Amino acid sequence: MTFPLVATTLYGLEEVLARELSEIGASDIVMLNRAVKYRGDLAVLYKSNLYLRTALKVLKPIAEFKARNEQELYDGVKQIKWDEFISPHHTIAVDGTTYSDTFKHSKYVALKTKDAIVDQFREKFNVRPSVDVDNPDLQVNMHIAEILCTVSLDSSGSHLGKRGYRQEQVLAPISETMAAGIILLSEWDKKSDFLDPMCGSGTFPIEAAMIATNTAPGNLRHFAFEKWKDFDPALWKSIKEESEKRVIPFTGKISGRDSDEMAVRISRNNAARAGVNSIVKFEINDFFKNEAQTENCLIVMNPPYGERLNEEDEMIPFYKEIGTKLKHFYMGCDAWIISGNTDAIKFVGLKPSRKLRLFNGPIECKLHKFQMYRGSKRGGNEI
Ligand SMILES: C[S@@+](CC[C@H](N)C(=O)[O-])C[C@H]1O[C@@H](n2cnc3c(N)ncnc32)[C@H](O)[C@@H]1O
Repeated sequence: MTFPLVATTLYGLEEVLARELSEIGASDIVMLNRAVKYRGDLAVLYKSNLYLRTALKVLKPIAEFKARNEQELYDGVKQIKWDEFISPHHTIAVDGTTYSDTFKHSKYVALKTKDAIVDQFREKFNVRPSVDVDNPDLQVNMHIAEILCTVSLDSSGSHLGKRGYRQEQVLAPISETMAAGIILLSEWDKKSDFLDPMCGSGTFPIEAAMIATNTAPGNLRHFAFEKWKDFDPALWKSIKEESEKRVIPFTGKISGRDSDEMAVRISRNNAARAGVNSIVKFEINDFFKNEAQTENCLIVMNPPYGERLNEEDEMIPFYKEIGTKLKHFYMGCDAWIISGNTDAIKFVGLKPSRKLRLFNGPIECKLHKFQMYRGSKRGGNEI
């Protein structure tokens, strides 16, 4: 039996997520803004959490109604038979998102929703479920678009970018979801060399190694659906076992470099936790001082964007130097650069063959693709 599902994502990754969903057997896939809706059965729901690299949360809508005021919102939530999902001794948490002139405050919407659930239990059983925001038995999501309220069960729990391997990080790391999204957008063939020359916590190389080996991004963590009343442990076990069988060896070269010794140490530890330390090589290396010629490599990087105090003024020459370095030492390579400094990235000085606008959390970013051709090729960057 299939039912509707919604996977949320970051702005700009909707298409990649839709592609990922089609690969795990989802049907009726429709792209929305920062989300993709689709249909699937319990297996697709479990696989969505385990396999999707670019989803933040997988939501299961259970009710939809219109509300023109608070009372109608409260009444709508109270119509739902909550004891189908939890018992009175269970704990709940509610979060809300609202894009509405009537309901302006998401926290208030969440509070009203929670009140309606709790009141229903009190009236029916004389006991009320408690709230546990950190580790609830049931996480409920209320989404309001103008007057249309959608109540969903959050099957993921903490967002899916929290794979579990990144327990240490540098200042301003890129989210795992964004890193995986960019690698998938780059259409890397999973064979040619992969390099992040300013790797920070190692997110890009680690995500690349997981993609290249078919390692499920969720294999280290737990999900909220494991506490649901309808949880099917046998089905979940078989899906997990199947995911382990899908892992394939990788013989190519994935490298991460950083001029900061601590970043390299952090990257190595993170890669070990992700189980890809035998695949990714990390080294201390200053991008600008490296004189080796690199060819036919996919470069993905997220240079500093001026996140440190007093760094802002240095950013334009820094990005200019990146462009010069790429042009002279990385022939035949494609470089994808994502930066939260939307001005400085223009100073790379090479002609981008693709330009995308993305959001890393609240930070607007530009993702530019540069192709360093050897010889003549129109539109690229001749060496
Ligand atoms: C924004 S952080 C990268 C974050 C990374 N993508 C992550 O997920 O953690 C930028 C990194 O560039 C490194 N860096 C700055 N200048 C460098 C240089 N000349 N050579 C190599 N790495 C450099 C910094 O040490 C820092 O770790």
